Amino acid sequence: MTSARIIGTGSFLPERILTNQQLEQMVETTDLWIRERTGIRQRHIAAPEETTCDLAEQAARRAMSAAGKGPEEIDLIIVATTTPDQVFPSTACLLQSRLDIHGCAAFDIQAVCTGFIYALGVANSFIRSGAARCALVIGAETLSRIVDWSDRQTCVLFGDGAGAVVLEAAETPGIISTHLHADGDYESLLRVPVGISKGYHKLQQEQAFIEMKGNEVFKMAVTTLGRIVDETLEANQMKKTDIDWLIPHQANIRIINATAKKLRMAMDRVVVTVDTHGNTSAASVPLALDVAVRDGRIRRGDTLLLEAFGGGFTWGSVLVKY
Ligand code: ACO
Repeated sequence: MTSARIIGTGSFLPERILTNQQLEQMVETTDLWIRERTGIRQRHIAAPEETTCDLAEQAARRAMSAAGKGPEEIDLIIVATTTPDQVFPSTACLLQSRLDIHGCAAFDIQAVCTGFIYALGVANSFIRSGAARCALVIGAETLSRIVDWSDRQTCVLFGDGAGAVVLEAAETPGIISTHLHADGDYESLLRVPVGISKGYHKLQQEQAFIEMKGNEVFKMAVTTLGRIVDETLEANQMKKTDIDWLIPHQANIRIINATAKKLRMAMDRVVVTVDTHGNTSAASVPLALDVAVRDGRIRRGDTLLLEAFGGGFTWGSVLVKY
C-alpha cells in the first residue's frame, strides 16, 4: 500500500524579534505574566512589506532542498493559512509561480491553527489515491496583521513564520493515520468577526482583529487534545510508549504540558518552540518539526504525533513514521 513519507522539511522566521520586554512598553503587561501564563519569551514579526507568501517561499525552498526535489518534481501544493496575501489568487498559486512550478494543483486550506494538520491529511489522501506523487505542504502566517496591538489579552500570544514539508509516495510507512475534526458551534470564543462577504469595504478598523475568550478556549483545547491523543492511539492499536516525539501546536506551554502528561511523556520528548516563536497558527507545527529534524533530535524511523487545536473550533492529529 502506498504511503506518504516526509522526505524534507524547512522553515523560515522573519528577522524582527519582538520580546516580552518590548511588549511591556506597548500594553499593560509583564514579562513574568506572559512567561508564567503562556511560556512565551519572544516572537518574530514580519517586516511591513513581507507577506505570507514571502515566508512560505523561503520555507518551501528549504524543504525542497532538504528533500533534493526540483520544481518539476512537485505535483501538488497546499498552503495552510488564515492570513493569505490576497483574496485571490490563493497563496498556493502565488507561491507556485515564485517556485517556477507549473500545471499541478495548488490551493489554500483555512483551518486556523489546525491548518497544517488538515493540509497533511488532504495531501496524504492525494498521495494514497495516486492523484499526486510529490506534494509540497506548507503552513505560513502573518498573524501580526490581524492582532490588535492594544489588546493585552491577545497581542502577547501571536507571531509570524512558515514551515514546510515535502511528501513523497513510498512503499515504506510514512503518514500512518490522520484524524481531522471541527465543531462550528464555538465561533464566538475565537474569531476575526469580519471578512469579504460581510462587507470588507465597510470594514471598521477595530473589528479586523482576533477576538478570543482565552480561558474558555484553553479548557476546550486541553480536553479536546486529550481526546485526540486517545483516538489516534486507539485507531492504530498503539500504546502511549510507542510515540517517540510529540510535536504539538505551539499555543501555550500549559496546554502542551497537559497533552504530554496525558501521554505520560517526559518533556524532553516534546518539541517546544512556543518560547521563541509564540503562536504562529498554521505554521507552528511544521516550524517545530523542522527545528527538531535539523537539530538532530528527530531521526529516521521515529514515530511522531503531530496535533493541533484552533479556531472553528478545528482540531486534529497526524501520526507519522518519520
Ligand atoms: N498581561 C497581564 N495580565 C493579563 C494579560 C496580559 N497580557 N492578559 C490578561 N491578563 C489578565 C486578565 O485581565 C485577568 O485579570 P483579572 O483576573 O483581573 O480579570 C488575568 O490576567 C487572568 O486572565 P485569564 O484570561 O483568565 O488568563 P489565563 O490564565 O486563561 O491565560 C491565555 C490567558 C494565555 C490567553 C490562555 O487562556 C490561553 O492560552 N488560552 C488558549 C489560547 C489558544 O490555545 N488558542 C487556540 C489557538 S489560537 C487560534 O486558533 C488562532
